[in-house]
Amino acid sequence: MSTLVIVGTQWGDEGKGKITDYLAEKAEVVVRYQGGNNAGHTVEKGGVQYKLHLIPSGILYPDKTCIIGNGVVIDPASLIEEMENLKGHGIGVNNLKISDRAHVVFPYHIRQDELEEAAKGEDDLGTTKKGIGPCYMDKAERTGIRICDLLKPEVLKEKLKKNVEKKNTLFRNVYGVEGFNFDEIYEKYLGYAEKIKPFVTDTTVLLYDLIKEGKKVLFEGAQGTLLDLDLGTYPYVTASHPIAGGVTVGTGIGPTMIDEVIGVVKAYTTRVGKGPFPTELRDEIGNFLREKGHEYGTTTGRPRRCGWLDTVILRYSVRVSGITHFALTKLDTLTGLKKIKICIGYKFKREVITDFPAGIEDLAGCEPVYEEFDGWEEDIKQVKKFEQLPYNAQRYVRRIEELIGIKAAIISVGPEREQTILLREF
Ligand code: IMP
Repeated sequence: MSTLVIVGTQWGDEGKGKITDYLAEKAEVVVRYQGGNNAGHTVEKGGVQYKLHLIPSGILYPDKTCIIGNGVVIDPASLIEEMENLKGHGIGVNNLKISDRAHVVFPYHIRQDELEEAAKGEDDLGTTKKGIGPCYMDKAERTGIRICDLLKPEVLKEKLKKNVEKKNTLFRNVYGVEGFNFDEIYEKYLGYAEKIKPFVTDTTVLLYDLIKEGKKVLFEGAQGTLLDLDLGTYPYVTASHPIAGGVTVGTGIGPTMIDEVIGVVKAYTTRVGKGPFPTELRDEIGNFLREKGHEYGTTTGRPRRCGWLDTVILRYSVRVSGITHFALTKLDTLTGLKKIKICIGYKFKREVITDFPAGIEDLAGCEPVYEEFDGWEEDIKQVKKFEQLPYNAQRYVRRIEELIGIKAAIISVGPEREQTILLREF
């Protein structure tokens, strides 16, 4: 590996945290390129569970450089809390570098997220209400405030004043609620700026130099392909670009600097929030997957909707991110099921389609076409080699490879680092 991107191939929550942590050990630099604290990676180390929202998983290793790229939106309160929590567990954060071009989340973004979701009523998107969408909206509107502004009190004052006034007008006139006090936010954010300042740098230069030096760099995607603003199940998407292409705009490196892309595939499918989900199981098998797989949101605690593996989605993800191989996670969750299904196509208007449709109205009209497999009963949590997996589990993996046209590189059979089968070197 010299530069490797990790992307989620489904609707997020594929278990990227563990895979990132696993590969971070072999990397020298770990980089976040999009999203914000709407993401939640749970990493287990030495019996302790770390919930990381903004800080790259590599932070658990003292010798890795961890970068929060310009494409990330940063809620400083959340970032500082995460830093303090890590320090409380004896984990240093001096190797953290924050882009001076990243945009900053303010309390009015969070309020706007809440109000707009509430106003949409039945049609709400089911956002994490962390202010992510409104922060990216301001970025696109060119009124956003960046980390480089945060560090200059006079610049911050001027920009924040305009933003608070504008948002307060929106809150009062459209939503009929009270606005924010400028002084309070300004003082609070000046305090945050002091805490964050030592970590801020031009990460585009840093990263370019590190890659040129031949360092092994891991780009850690948050969310997943189907939550991508352009290529996901619009409008039920996040406001950033989790696909591999997001790395270039989100970190300031060119596409020729990306060597490989690993797609993280959960052995079944889950989604939080709303929107059509063809292989969803609203029965006892869905409940089985949710309980056995602990499918509750890391960030919001919401129960995740669960369903069978969908290779229409996976093939689409492989294509749009140029995925070179995949990491299969949570295979152990399927243990004990008599029959396991894989969706291989959609029945749509009397035809069978194999390309993922653009519109959610079409997706809602898609009925999954399944292949059925016999399950396995054996506990696989301690299996270290592919050949030691039960025959039916091996068959399941091999069939996924055939259907999506790329090879498995990693199979995860439990939350701990040791519960991992490696099929190739990194
Ligand atoms: P937002 O990112 O909070 O704006 O939410 C937009 C959509 O993305 C909602 O459906 C969220 O549930 C979903 N979403 C955002 N972050 C994650 C994640 O880390 N995992 C899964 N879904 C997410």
